[in-house]
Amino acid sequence: MIRMNENYLKLQASYLFSEIAKRVNAYQAENPDKKIIRLGIGDVTRALPVACITALHKAVDEMAVDATFRGYGPEQGYAFLREKIAEHDFRVRGAQISPEEIFISDGSKCDVGNFQELFAFDTRVAVPDPVYPVYVDTNVMAGRTAAWKDGRYEGLVYLESTEANEYVPALPKEKVDVIYLCFPNNPTGRTVTKAQLRPWVDYARENKALILYDAAYVAFIRDASLPQSIYEIDGAPDVAVEFRSFSKTAGFTGTRCAYTVIPKQCKIYDSQGNGHSLHALWDRRHSTKFNGVSYPIQRAAEAVYSPEGQQQIRELSDYYLANAALIRTTLGKAGFKCIGGDHAPYVWVKANMDSWKFFDLMLQNADVVCTPGAGFGKCGEGYIRFSAFNSRENVETALQRVSEALKGL
Ligand code: MLT
Repeated sequence: MIRMNENYLKLQASYLFSEIAKRVNAYQAENPDKKIIRLGIGDVTRALPVACITALHKAVDEMAVDATFRGYGPEQGYAFLREKIAEHDFRVRGAQISPEEIFISDGSKCDVGNFQELFAFDTRVAVPDPVYPVYVDTNVMAGRTAAWKDGRYEGLVYLESTEANEYVPALPKEKVDVIYLCFPNNPTGRTVTKAQLRPWVDYARENKALILYDAAYVAFIRDASLPQSIYEIDGAPDVAVEFRSFSKTAGFTGTRCAYTVIPKQCKIYDSQGNGHSLHALWDRRHSTKFNGVSYPIQRAAEAVYSPEGQQQIRELSDYYLANAALIRTTLGKAGFKCIGGDHAPYVWVKANMDSWKFFDLMLQNADVVCTPGAGFGKCGEGYIRFSAFNSRENVETALQRVSEALKGL
Protein backbone atom coordinates (compact mmCIF):
# COMPACT_ATOMS: atom_id res chain seq x y z
CA MET A 1 0.00 0.00 0.00
CA ILE A 2 1.36 3.37 -0.98
CA ARG A 3 1.07 5.64 2.04
CA MET A 4 0.86 9.37 1.92
CA ASN A 5 2.92 12.04 3.62
CA GLU A 6 0.27 12.93 6.17
CA ASN A 7 1.79 16.34 6.75
CA TYR A 8 -0.07 17.34 3.59
CA LEU A 9 -3.32 16.80 5.52
CA LYS A 10 -2.35 19.67 7.79
CA LEU A 11 -2.20 22.13 4.88
CA GLN A 12 -5.00 24.59 4.37
CA ALA A 13 -7.29 23.76 1.44
CA SER A 14 -5.21 25.17 -1.39
CA TYR A 15 -2.30 27.47 -2.13
CA LEU A 16 -3.45 31.09 -1.68
CA PHE A 17 -3.12 32.15 -5.30
CA SER A 18 -4.78 28.96 -6.57
CA GLU A 19 -7.73 29.61 -4.24
CA ILE A 20 -8.05 33.16 -5.56
CA ALA A 21 -7.82 31.95 -9.18
CA LYS A 22 -10.58 29.41 -8.44
CA ARG A 23 -12.91 32.11 -7.07
CA VAL A 24 -12.13 34.49 -9.92
CA ASN A 25 -12.70 31.80 -12.57
CA ALA A 26 -16.04 30.85 -11.01
CA TYR A 27 -17.11 34.50 -11.01
CA GLN A 28 -15.98 34.93 -14.63
CA ALA A 29 -17.89 31.78 -15.67
CA GLU A 30 -21.07 33.20 -14.10
CA ASN A 31 -20.43 36.64 -15.61
CA PRO A 32 -18.82 36.02 -19.01
CA ASP A 33 -19.21 39.64 -20.16
CA LYS A 34 -17.42 41.23 -17.21
CA LYS A 35 -13.92 42.55 -17.86
CA ILE A 36 -12.09 41.54 -14.71
CA ILE A 37 -8.91 43.45 -13.87
CA ARG A 38 -6.31 41.48 -11.93
CA LEU A 39 -4.36 43.29 -9.24
CA GLY A 40 -4.03 40.11 -7.20
CA ILE A 41 -1.06 37.83 -7.86
CA GLY A 42 2.14 39.72 -8.55
CA ASP A 43 2.47 38.69 -12.16
CA VAL A 44 4.12 41.11 -14.56
CA THR A 45 2.26 42.19 -17.70
CA ARG A 46 4.79 44.14 -19.76
CA ALA A 47 6.95 42.59 -22.49
CA LEU A 48 10.52 41.47 -21.84
CA PRO A 49 13.13 44.23 -22.26
CA VAL A 50 14.43 44.54 -25.83
CA ALA A 51 17.99 43.76 -24.67
CA CYS A 52 16.78 40.42 -23.25
CA ILE A 53 14.72 39.52 -26.31
CA THR A 54 17.64 40.30 -28.64
CA ALA A 55 19.96 38.09 -26.57
CA LEU A 56 17.32 35.34 -26.43
CA HIS A 57 16.90 35.32 -30.25
CA LYS A 58 20.63 35.21 -30.76
CA ALA A 59 21.03 32.30 -28.35
CA VAL A 60 18.17 30.38 -29.99
CA ASP A 61 19.97 30.79 -33.35
CA GLU A 62 23.15 29.41 -31.76
CA MET A 63 21.18 26.32 -30.75
CA ALA A 64 20.23 25.79 -34.42
CA VAL A 65 23.84 25.22 -35.54
CA ASP A 66 26.00 22.22 -34.55
CA ALA A 67 29.07 24.39 -34.00
CA THR A 68 27.40 26.60 -31.38
CA PHE A 69 24.76 24.19 -30.05
CA ARG A 70 24.85 23.48 -26.29
CA GLY A 71 23.55 20.44 -24.44
CA TYR A 72 23.57 20.14 -20.65
CA GLY A 73 25.06 23.23 -19.06
CA PRO A 74 26.59 23.46 -15.60
CA GLU A 75 23.86 22.76 -13.01
CA GLN A 76 24.94 25.87 -11.08
CA GLY A 77 24.61 28.10 -14.14
CA TYR A 78 26.92 29.42 -16.83
CA ALA A 79 29.93 31.44 -15.69
CA PHE A 80 29.01 34.32 -18.02
CA LEU A 81 25.84 34.96 -15.99
CA ARG A 82 27.26 34.22 -12.53
CA GLU A 83 30.12 36.65 -13.13
CA LYS A 84 27.80 39.47 -14.19
CA ILE A 85 25.57 38.92 -11.16
CA ALA A 86 28.48 38.90 -8.70
CA GLU A 87 29.85 42.12 -10.14
CA HIS A 88 26.67 44.14 -10.71
CA ASP A 89 24.38 42.99 -7.91
CA PHE A 90 26.94 42.62 -5.13
CA ARG A 91 30.51 43.85 -5.60
CA VAL A 92 29.52 47.33 -6.77
CA ARG A 93 27.65 47.68 -3.46
CA GLY A 94 30.61 46.49 -1.41
CA ALA A 95 29.30 42.95 -0.86
CA GLN A 96 32.13 40.50 -1.57
CA ILE A 97 30.23 37.72 -3.32
CA SER A 98 32.07 35.54 -5.85
CA PRO A 99 30.51 33.96 -8.97
CA GLU A 100 30.99 30.46 -7.47
CA GLU A 101 28.70 31.41 -4.59
CA ILE A 102 25.78 31.99 -7.00
CA PHE A 103 23.43 29.19 -8.07
CA ILE A 104 21.25 29.93 -11.10
CA SER A 105 17.78 28.39 -10.98
CA ASP A 106 14.34 28.56 -12.55
CA GLY A 107 12.72 30.55 -9.74
CA SER A 108 12.98 31.86 -6.22
CA LYS A 109 9.72 30.19 -5.23
CA CYS A 110 11.31 26.80 -5.97
CA ASP A 111 14.62 27.68 -4.31
CA VAL A 112 13.07 29.10 -1.16
CA GLY A 113 10.68 26.15 -1.02
CA ASN A 114 13.37 23.52 -1.62
CA PHE A 115 16.00 24.99 0.66
CA GLN A 116 14.44 23.64 3.87
CA GLU A 117 15.34 20.10 2.67
CA LEU A 118 18.82 20.78 4.03
CA PHE A 119 17.58 21.34 7.57
CA ALA A 120 17.11 18.81 10.35
CA PHE A 121 13.57 17.66 10.98
CA ASP A 122 13.43 19.39 14.39
CA THR A 123 14.72 22.76 13.15
CA ARG A 124 12.91 25.64 14.86
CA VAL A 125 11.57 27.90 12.15
CA ALA A 126 10.58 31.57 12.42
CA VAL A 127 8.49 33.22 9.72
CA PRO A 128 7.11 36.73 9.44
CA ASP A 129 3.36 37.25 9.77
CA PRO A 130 2.03 38.30 7.26
CA VAL A 131 4.15 35.96 5.19
CA TYR A 132 4.70 34.74 1.63
CA PRO A 133 2.88 31.38 2.04
CA VAL A 134 5.66 29.28 0.46
CA TYR A 135 7.90 29.69 3.54
CA VAL A 136 5.22 28.21 5.74
CA ASP A 137 3.67 25.56 3.51
CA THR A 138 6.98 23.92 2.57
CA ASN A 139 7.87 23.50 6.25
CA VAL A 140 4.42 22.07 6.93
CA MET A 141 4.91 19.56 4.09
CA ALA A 142 8.26 18.58 5.59
CA GLY A 143 6.63 17.87 8.96
CA ARG A 144 8.19 20.71 10.94
CA THR A 145 4.86 21.86 12.34
CA ALA A 146 1.99 20.40 14.29
CA ALA A 147 -1.66 21.08 13.48
CA TRP A 148 -3.32 24.24 12.19
CA LYS A 149 -4.97 25.98 15.12
CA ASP A 150 -6.61 29.40 15.32
CA GLY A 151 -5.13 30.55 12.04
CA ARG A 152 -1.58 29.35 12.70
CA TYR A 153 0.53 26.20 12.61
CA GLU A 154 1.65 25.01 16.01
CA GLY A 155 5.40 24.64 16.20
CA LEU A 156 6.25 27.63 14.02
CA VAL A 157 7.42 30.92 15.52
CA TYR A 158 5.53 33.83 13.99
CA LEU A 159 7.24 37.21 13.81
CA GLU A 160 4.42 39.70 13.87
CA SER A 161 4.66 42.63 11.47
CA THR A 162 1.90 45.02 12.35
CA GLU A 163 0.99 48.67 12.36
CA ALA A 164 2.32 48.81 15.96
CA ASN A 165 5.88 47.91 14.93
CA GLU A 166 5.61 49.63 11.54
CA TYR A 167 5.70 46.23 9.87
CA VAL A 168 9.27 45.38 10.89
CA PRO A 169 9.10 42.46 13.32
CA ALA A 170 11.00 42.22 16.58
CA LEU A 171 13.64 39.52 17.08
CA PRO A 172 12.20 36.23 18.34
CA LYS A 173 12.08 35.94 22.13
CA GLU A 174 12.81 32.23 21.94
CA LYS A 175 15.74 30.52 20.24
CA VAL A 176 15.15 29.67 16.61
CA ASP A 177 17.42 28.04 14.05
CA VAL A 178 16.18 29.52 10.83
CA ILE A 179 14.56 32.86 10.08
CA TYR A 180 12.82 33.83 6.87
CA LEU A 181 13.00 37.54 6.04
CA CYS A 182 11.74 39.35 2.94
CA PHE A 183 12.55 42.97 2.06
CA PRO A 184 11.12 44.84 0.24
CA ASN A 185 8.40 42.82 1.84
CA ASN A 186 5.78 40.68 0.21
CA PRO A 187 2.97 41.41 1.04
CA THR A 188 3.37 44.71 2.96
CA GLY A 189 5.81 46.49 0.62
CA ARG A 190 7.81 47.54 3.71
CA THR A 191 11.56 48.09 3.36
CA VAL A 192 14.23 47.82 6.01
CA THR A 193 17.24 49.99 6.85
CA LYS A 194 20.74 48.69 7.51
CA ALA A 195 20.33 49.56 11.19
CA GLN A 196 17.13 47.48 11.33
CA LEU A 197 18.75 44.53 9.57
CA ARG A 198 21.91 44.41 11.68
CA PRO A 199 20.29 42.92 14.85
CA TRP A 200 19.02 39.97 12.76
CA VAL A 201 22.53 39.22 11.57
CA ASP A 202 23.83 39.57 15.15
CA TYR A 203 21.08 37.24 16.41
CA ALA A 204 21.92 34.63 13.78
CA ARG A 205 25.62 34.81 14.59
CA GLU A 206 25.02 34.49 18.35
CA ASN A 207 22.62 31.56 17.95
CA LYS A 208 24.31 29.74 15.03
CA ALA A 209 21.05 30.33 13.19
CA LEU A 210 20.53 30.90 9.47
CA ILE A 211 18.69 33.76 7.75
CA LEU A 212 16.91 33.01 4.49
CA TYR A 213 16.71 36.46 2.92
CA ASP A 214 14.22 36.86 0.08
CA ALA A 215 15.18 39.91 -1.98
CA ALA A 216 12.98 39.24 -5.01
CA TYR A 217 11.71 42.83 -5.07
CA VAL A 218 15.01 44.64 -4.73
CA ALA A 219 14.69 46.31 -8.18
CA PHE A 220 11.96 48.55 -6.77
CA ILE A 221 14.10 50.20 -4.09
CA ARG A 222 14.55 53.89 -4.90
CA ASP A 223 16.18 55.09 -1.69
CA ALA A 224 19.94 54.63 -2.17
CA SER A 225 20.54 54.44 1.59
CA LEU A 226 18.51 51.22 1.92
CA PRO A 227 20.37 47.92 1.71
CA GLN A 228 19.76 45.95 -1.48
CA SER A 229 21.45 42.83 -0.17
CA ILE A 230 21.80 41.38 3.31
CA TYR A 231 25.50 41.02 2.53
CA GLU A 232 25.83 44.78 2.91
CA ILE A 233 25.67 44.06 6.64
CA ASP A 234 29.00 43.03 8.21
CA GLY A 235 29.09 39.37 9.18
CA ALA A 236 26.04 38.42 7.12
CA PRO A 237 27.90 36.09 4.72
CA ASP A 238 28.53 33.75 7.69
CA VAL A 239 24.83 33.35 8.44
CA ALA A 240 22.65 34.26 5.46
CA VAL A 241 21.44 32.89 2.16
CA GLU A 242 19.91 35.33 -0.30
CA PHE A 243 17.28 34.65 -2.96
CA ARG A 244 16.97 36.86 -6.03
CA SER A 245 14.84 36.63 -9.12
CA PHE A 246 14.63 38.08 -12.63
CA SER A 247 10.81 37.68 -12.47
CA LYS A 248 9.88 41.06 -11.08
CA THR A 249 13.18 42.75 -11.98
CA ALA A 250 13.05 42.05 -15.71
CA GLY A 251 9.63 40.55 -16.41
CA PHE A 252 10.75 36.89 -16.32
CA THR A 253 7.70 35.37 -14.55
CA GLY A 254 6.92 33.30 -17.65
CA THR A 255 10.54 33.01 -18.78
CA ARG A 256 11.91 31.64 -15.48
CA CYS A 257 15.31 32.61 -14.14
CA ALA A 258 16.47 33.35 -10.62
CA TYR A 259 19.45 32.76 -8.39
CA THR A 260 20.41 31.88 -4.84
CA VAL A 261 23.57 33.11 -3.11
CA ILE A 262 25.31 30.89 -0.56
CA PRO A 263 28.59 32.32 0.69
CA LYS A 264 31.26 29.67 1.10
CA GLN A 265 31.86 30.53 4.75
CA CYS A 266 28.21 29.95 5.71
CA LYS A 267 27.91 26.95 8.04
CA ILE A 268 25.24 24.43 8.99
CA TYR A 269 25.78 22.11 11.97
CA ASP A 270 25.39 18.37 12.60
CA SER A 271 23.98 16.88 15.81
CA GLN A 272 27.50 16.93 17.34
CA GLY A 273 27.80 20.65 16.67
CA ASN A 274 30.36 20.25 13.87
CA GLY A 275 30.09 22.88 11.16
CA HIS A 276 29.57 21.88 7.52
CA SER A 277 29.58 23.97 4.37
CA LEU A 278 26.03 24.96 3.44
CA HIS A 279 27.33 25.80 -0.03
CA ALA A 280 28.63 22.24 -0.48
CA LEU A 281 25.33 20.78 0.74
CA TRP A 282 23.20 22.85 -1.63
CA ASP A 283 25.63 22.14 -4.47
CA ARG A 284 25.14 18.42 -3.81
CA ARG A 285 21.35 18.78 -3.76
CA HIS A 286 21.23 21.11 -6.77
CA SER A 287 23.44 18.94 -8.99
CA THR A 288 21.43 15.83 -8.08
CA LYS A 289 17.95 17.28 -8.57
CA PHE A 290 18.43 20.07 -11.11
CA ASN A 291 19.92 20.25 -14.59
CA GLY A 292 20.29 23.97 -14.99
CA VAL A 293 18.33 26.74 -16.67
CA SER A 294 18.30 26.65 -20.46
CA TYR A 295 21.15 28.37 -22.29
CA PRO A 296 18.98 30.92 -24.18
CA ILE A 297 17.25 31.98 -20.96
CA GLN A 298 20.57 32.49 -19.19
CA ARG A 299 21.76 34.60 -22.13
CA ALA A 300 18.54 36.66 -21.84
CA ALA A 301 19.21 37.14 -18.11
CA GLU A 302 22.81 38.14 -18.81
CA ALA A 303 21.52 40.93 -21.08
CA VAL A 304 19.88 42.53 -18.01
CA TYR A 305 23.39 43.65 -17.03
CA SER A 306 24.23 45.37 -20.35
CA PRO A 307 23.93 49.19 -20.29
CA GLU A 308 20.74 48.99 -22.42
CA GLY A 309 19.39 46.19 -20.23
CA GLN A 310 19.99 48.22 -17.07
CA GLN A 311 18.16 51.20 -18.54
CA GLN A 312 15.27 49.06 -19.77
CA ILE A 313 14.71 47.25 -16.49
CA ARG A 314 14.78 50.59 -14.70
CA GLU A 315 12.01 51.81 -17.02
CA LEU A 316 10.01 48.65 -16.28
CA SER A 317 10.17 49.03 -12.52
CA ASP A 318 9.53 52.80 -12.77
CA TYR A 319 6.36 52.02 -14.72
CA TYR A 320 5.04 49.63 -12.07
CA LEU A 321 6.06 51.99 -9.27
CA ALA A 322 4.00 54.75 -10.90
CA ASN A 323 1.03 52.35 -10.84
CA ALA A 324 1.71 51.64 -7.17
CA ALA A 325 1.79 55.37 -6.40
CA LEU A 326 -1.56 55.79 -8.12
CA ILE A 327 -3.10 52.94 -6.11
CA ARG A 328 -1.74 54.29 -2.86
CA THR A 329 -2.86 57.88 -3.52
CA THR A 330 -6.35 56.90 -4.67
CA LEU A 331 -7.02 54.56 -1.76
CA GLY A 332 -5.43 57.02 0.66
CA LYS A 333 -7.81 59.73 -0.55
CA ALA A 334 -10.70 57.33 -0.09
CA GLY A 335 -9.76 57.17 3.59
CA PHE A 336 -7.80 53.91 3.68
CA LYS A 337 -4.48 53.65 5.52
CA CYS A 338 -1.86 52.34 3.10
CA ILE A 339 1.79 51.40 3.24
CA GLY A 340 4.23 50.10 0.61
CA GLY A 341 4.19 50.97 -3.05
CA ASP A 342 7.08 53.44 -2.76
CA HIS A 343 9.94 50.91 -2.93
CA ALA A 344 7.83 47.87 -3.76
CA PRO A 345 5.18 46.81 -6.28
CA TYR A 346 2.66 46.05 -3.52
CA VAL A 347 0.38 48.38 -1.60
CA TRP A 348 -0.85 47.07 1.75
CA VAL A 349 -4.22 48.56 2.62
CA LYS A 350 -6.09 48.51 5.91
CA ALA A 351 -9.47 47.32 4.69
CA ASN A 352 -11.46 48.18 7.82
CA MET A 353 -13.33 44.90 7.37
CA ASP A 354 -12.74 41.16 7.02
CA SER A 355 -10.23 40.76 4.21
CA TRP A 356 -12.03 37.99 2.26
CA LYS A 357 -15.20 40.10 2.52
CA PHE A 358 -13.30 43.03 0.99
CA PHE A 359 -11.94 40.69 -1.70
CA ASP A 360 -15.48 39.50 -2.60
CA LEU A 361 -16.76 43.07 -2.59
CA MET A 362 -14.03 44.18 -5.00
CA LEU A 363 -14.64 41.19 -7.25
CA GLN A 364 -18.42 41.47 -7.33
CA ASN A 365 -18.90 45.24 -7.24
CA ALA A 366 -15.80 46.43 -9.13
CA ASP A 367 -14.67 43.36 -11.14
CA VAL A 368 -11.24 43.89 -9.63
CA VAL A 369 -9.08 41.15 -8.11
CA CYS A 370 -6.92 41.92 -5.10
CA THR A 371 -5.36 39.60 -2.52
CA PRO A 372 -6.97 39.20 0.91
CA GLY A 373 -4.42 39.86 3.63
CA ALA A 374 -5.71 36.93 5.71
CA GLY A 375 -4.22 34.63 3.07
CA PHE A 376 -0.78 35.78 4.23
CA GLY A 377 -1.38 35.00 7.89
CA LYS A 378 -3.23 36.03 10.99
CA CYS A 379 -1.69 39.52 11.07
CA GLY A 380 -2.95 40.05 7.52
CA GLU A 381 -6.59 39.79 8.59
CA GLY A 382 -8.33 43.10 7.97
CA TYR A 383 -5.85 44.01 5.22
CA ILE A 384 -5.77 43.78 1.43
CA ARG A 385 -2.82 43.68 -0.92
CA PHE A 386 -3.01 45.46 -4.27
CA SER A 387 -0.41 44.54 -6.86
CA ALA A 388 0.87 47.24 -9.22
CA PHE A 389 1.66 44.75 -11.99
CA ASN A 390 -0.72 45.72 -14.76
CA SER A 391 -1.03 48.29 -17.52
CA ARG A 392 -1.53 51.95 -16.51
CA GLU A 393 -4.87 51.92 -18.30
CA ASN A 394 -6.09 48.87 -16.36
CA VAL A 395 -4.90 50.30 -13.05
CA GLU A 396 -6.72 53.59 -13.75
CA THR A 397 -9.92 51.78 -14.73
CA ALA A 398 -9.66 49.49 -11.73
CA LEU A 399 -9.22 52.42 -9.37
CA GLN A 400 -12.24 54.23 -10.82
CA ARG A 401 -14.34 51.11 -10.30
CA VAL A 402 -12.95 50.55 -6.80
CA SER A 403 -13.68 54.17 -5.84
CA GLU A 404 -17.27 53.77 -7.06
CA ALA A 405 -17.71 50.50 -5.21
CA LEU A 406 -16.36 52.01 -2.00
CA LYS A 407 -18.80 54.93 -2.18
CA GLY A 408 -21.63 52.43 -1.87
CA LEU A 409 -20.41 51.18 1.51
C1 MLT B 1 2.82 37.15 -5.23
O1 MLT B 1 1.83 37.60 -5.79
O2 MLT B 1 2.96 37.16 -4.02
C2 MLT B 1 3.90 36.58 -6.09
O3 MLT B 1 3.59 36.66 -7.42
C3 MLT B 1 4.13 35.21 -5.77
C4 MLT B 1 5.36 34.66 -6.39
O4 MLT B 1 6.23 35.40 -6.85
O5 MLT B 1 5.45 33.44 -6.39
